[in-house]
Amino acid sequence: MPATPTSPSSAAASSAWLSARCLALQPSLTLAIAAKAKQLRAAGADICSLSAGEPDFDTPAFIRQAAADALEAGHTRYGPAAGEPALREAIAHKLSHENSVPTRPEQVLVTNGGKQALFNLFQVLLQPGDELLLPSPYWLSYPDMAQLAGASVRLIPSTPASGFRLSAEDLEAAISPASKLLVLNSPGNPTGMVLSRAELEAIAAVLRRHPQLLVVCDEIYEFLLAPGHSHHSLAAVAPDLAERILIVGGCAKGWAMTGWRIGWLAGHGALIQAAAALQSQTTSNVCTFAQYGAMAAVSGPRDCVHAMAAQFNSRRQRLSDGLQAIPQLQLQAPQGAFYAFPDVSAYGLDSMTLCNRLLDEVGLAVVPGVAFGDDRCIRLSCAASEATIDDGLDRLTRFLQQL
Ligand SMILES: Cc1ncc(COP(=O)(O)O)c(C=O)c1O
Repeated sequence: MPATPTSPSSAAASSAWLSARCLALQPSLTLAIAAKAKQLRAAGADICSLSAGEPDFDTPAFIRQAAADALEAGHTRYGPAAGEPALREAIAHKLSHENSVPTRPEQVLVTNGGKQALFNLFQVLLQPGDELLLPSPYWLSYPDMAQLAGASVRLIPSTPASGFRLSAEDLEAAISPASKLLVLNSPGNPTGMVLSRAELEAIAAVLRRHPQLLVVCDEIYEFLLAPGHSHHSLAAVAPDLAERILIVGGCAKGWAMTGWRIGWLAGHGALIQAAAALQSQTTSNVCTFAQYGAMAAVSGPRDCVHAMAAQFNSRRQRLSDGLQAIPQLQLQAPQGAFYAFPDVSAYGLDSMTLCNRLLDEVGLAVVPGVAFGDDRCIRLSCAASEATIDDGLDRLTRFLQQL
């Protein structure tokens, strides 16, 4: 028998307990910076945070009311693992009519946020020997989720000067026989890049030449678009490829419902069935009464979504204008989501050092680009009031000037 570690206080002993899978996991760097900022603030420091990855608005009242009504009506028990039938139907209707991707309810799985949709999908699709194709910079959970499924990750790098666009040529060059799944995240976190219809058509042309490759489109920021930009689902642009395209979406960002944990995975029925089976053996159904709130959101009017998106537009513009006014900082204006991801490499510090010094020296919390695969950049969020954005810009300018 292997020796049993006796003292959990010993790092060596506790790492002997952990699976190799979990030893390789990286704790989220975004959470680490947020925790440090919180600690400093609790200790009385004057901290300005542009690090949030969530809307600062309240969930609209009619959605809160629908969940409260569901609680009162006794929707407090286990439900079907794949989601409440009426919510699956509402999401299928949304995808069919709002995104022009014909979808049946049995092609939809309701998940604990977009995050669990991605986790489930990676688990049912990927295994050792498979490769995830990941345009970089990327949202930081994708690589760890792929590794948890035993797959390797092949990055497809892009440049700040190109606005972090994924070119069809770079995609084609990255594809290997092991490539199983491509991630497309538009509007993107952290870059704010939005893929145009023409770019999606060019990507679809590459996919037609590689029939073994599936695609997951993470559309969680679909409603957050700068003026002049539109969201297109790849499956609507290339309906002939729809069988190989999975869509991940959710209520978190568009409806200001991050804490509700409502997301969805939609696509080929066999994959959805497999993901539902996995979910039935892990988390079971998503909180029942929260699903009733989500039904009101998804099938309700979009006025509230558009009103919040309009506010993000003016804040994104303010942040972007302020950043572009800083000498030596490079930024192509973000086109969606609620982030800006400027290149600050001209100041000569790696992104982690820069972010730690920003927090320690001027009390500004932002996220190092290294967390998203690009050490040249930092991520600033505009999910904050205009006064907070102005304050953050002042602190950043002051800090960079004295370097
Ligand atoms: C690109 C991207 N995908 C998915 C998610 C997960 O969202 P959810 O809160 O619905 O799990 C996030 C959250 O930050 C995100 O930025």
